[in-house]
Amino acid sequence: MTTSSKFSKALNLLDYQHLAKEVLPHAIYEYVYGGGADELTLNRNRSAFDEVCLWPRVLNNLTQGTTATTILGQSWRTPIMLAPVAFQKMAHADGEVGTARAASALDIGMTVSTLSSQSMEEVSEQLSTPKWFQLYWQLDRGFNLALIRRAQEAGYQAIVVTVDSAIHGIRNRAQRANFELPENVKAVNLEDRPPLPSKAFTPDQSIVFQGMMSEAPTWDDIEWLIKETSLPVIIKGILHPSDALKAKSIGAQGIVVSNHGGRTLDSVPSALDVLPNIRKLVGEDYTVLMDGGIQRGTDVFKALALGANAVMLGRPQFYALAVGGAQGVAHMLRILREELEVTMALAGTPRIEDINHDCLFAAL
Ligand code: FNR
Ligand code: LAC
Repeated sequence: MTTSSKFSKALNLLDYQHLAKEVLPHAIYEYVYGGGADELTLNRNRSAFDEVCLWPRVLNNLTQGTTATTILGQSWRTPIMLAPVAFQKMAHADGEVGTARAASALDIGMTVSTLSSQSMEEVSEQLSTPKWFQLYWQLDRGFNLALIRRAQEAGYQAIVVTVDSAIHGIRNRAQRANFELPENVKAVNLEDRPPLPSKAFTPDQSIVFQGMMSEAPTWDDIEWLIKETSLPVIIKGILHPSDALKAKSIGAQGIVVSNHGGRTLDSVPSALDVLPNIRKLVGEDYTVLMDGGIQRGTDVFKALALGANAVMLGRPQFYALAVGGAQGVAHMLRILREELEVTMALAGTPRIEDINHDCLFAAL
């Protein structure tokens, strides 16, 4: 099948997932699709959206309708941002550079992962839209600063620090499929990383707590990072309202309410479930994004109605990249953007600021 005939089969984001399953090696598909442990949270991320009903208003004048919004003082064409998704060369040779080209063509922002398979500089060159760099905390404080300075020099406008995955969750699906990173795919941004100190454990010590968690950041580290950089810092992976408040109080400019696409701790609520509470506590003016389970324009609308300023999109970018490279991602983003426009038109909300609780039949 040619690339263009594959596109023509994709009418929505779920179609891209199904097509990606046909083209990707089984182990890679399972790694990307999968969630933690029993995938309760992965499934909850979808069902939470399905449970919310829209409550449209009719006969409003929509001729001035627009999806434009302002995030951290920047104008965005649409309240959608690509979430950091690692190792995109596993999807397609175009890799993150291809995703960046597509994002730029569709005027949608992109957050580039610490674990990108092409360098943050190469990706940045192709990205003309909002450009954020996602930091996975590194043991050596100085190396974190070096990464952030590189990102700033390369033109990134914000740092997204991911705090929900200091260690891998239990990934049985990926284990069952024997997933391993292909040899030609590497975390190229980390090539200069200082070697980790080797550790010996006594029998009473735990590999998790005294081992892996000793490399994990704490609030002190994030507070330090915020003071050390002039870029806005956004904390990704918040679920508890008290942590949202804490993030705000230490000077983070925003948060991403997220359970990492259900890939870390299983059995936690979906971001959509906790969003209204978090919004209530942090106030109207604080920047709150969310992700997990977005598949339709109606999902974006529901997230905004429940308190998000914008949403992030994870797996769909990987699936579309696998199916059609950069063109696939552009096509997928166009579908989602148009679905959001159709939803706003039919719900009777011409502007993003018109989308609120009143647009929902039964708010969670
Ligand atoms: C991720 N995610 C992620 N998050 C992050 O902060 N840094 C990263 O490098 C990655 N890498 C990554 C790889 C893959 C294959 C997936 C599926 C996810 C999590 C991602 O940013 C986002 O939070 C979720 O993917 C959102 O859920 P959906 O949109 O995939 O349902
Ligand atoms: C994942 C890591 C890369 O979710 O964040 O697989």
